[in-house]
Amino acid sequence: MRIVAANWKMNHLRADATAFMETLKAGWKPVEGVVAAVAPPFPLLPLLQGLAQGTPLRVYAQNAHAEAKGAFTGEVSMAMVQDAGACGVILGHSERRQYNGETEATLLPKLKAAAAQGLAPMLCVGETLAQRDAGETLAVLKAQLAILAGTGFPGLAIAYEPVWAIGTGRVATVAQIAEVHAFIRGELKALLGDQGAATPILYGGSVTPDNFAEILRVPDVAGGLVGGASLDPAKFLRLLELAA
Ligand code: G3P
Repeated sequence: MRIVAANWKMNHLRADATAFMETLKAGWKPVEGVVAAVAPPFPLLPLLQGLAQGTPLRVYAQNAHAEAKGAFTGEVSMAMVQDAGACGVILGHSERRQYNGETEATLLPKLKAAAAQGLAPMLCVGETLAQRDAGETLAVLKAQLAILAGTGFPGLAIAYEPVWAIGTGRVATVAQIAEVHAFIRGELKALLGDQGAATPILYGGSVTPDNFAEILRVPDVAGGLVGGASLDPAKFLRLLELAA
């Protein structure tokens, strides 16, 4: 199974989402084995879910809080994003680690809350440039993945997003992606057994229609988590075609 997931981050209004879905529906020929997902900002979840009716598009949230309810101003719960139309949730994106203080300590409760709510988690991992330059890449990834220990998370996917490749136009090399994805696969097997052997591992970081085919040929790459290029429905459609 391959997954092409759009992370819209803090982009798009209702009109953009509507236009996106019109273009997508007009050109998309879904094929078995290729999952398309879009993670819009929270306010667009219900609209997107409605527009996606009758298509196999999966709608994800970009984050949600670990607590079920309460005095957490500005936050939304797993149940709320599900109620708004999400079937999964991105967790641990590097931008949330950087700007919102997400750590393994905050992410483990979120993973558990997502699983309890029946939401498929997409856990993002990845090293900074400083960590790569210091030779710490695999140790950083090992620590980020360790929160998966011992527990199965239905629908789990991992997105490897080297922080230095996000929004920079600088894509990790095929060799770098191959090394890291093989390492992640080994960790997942050790942590989760059979589920770890089958968990999709996506690559993210400056994915475009021009480089996606080459990235998809790397062993253990099961698709992409795409930011910038996913805002354009024509490019997203092309990514879906390349994954087919
Ligand atoms: O989650 C997707 C991501 O961070 C990559 O963004 O713009 O480099 O494709 P981009």
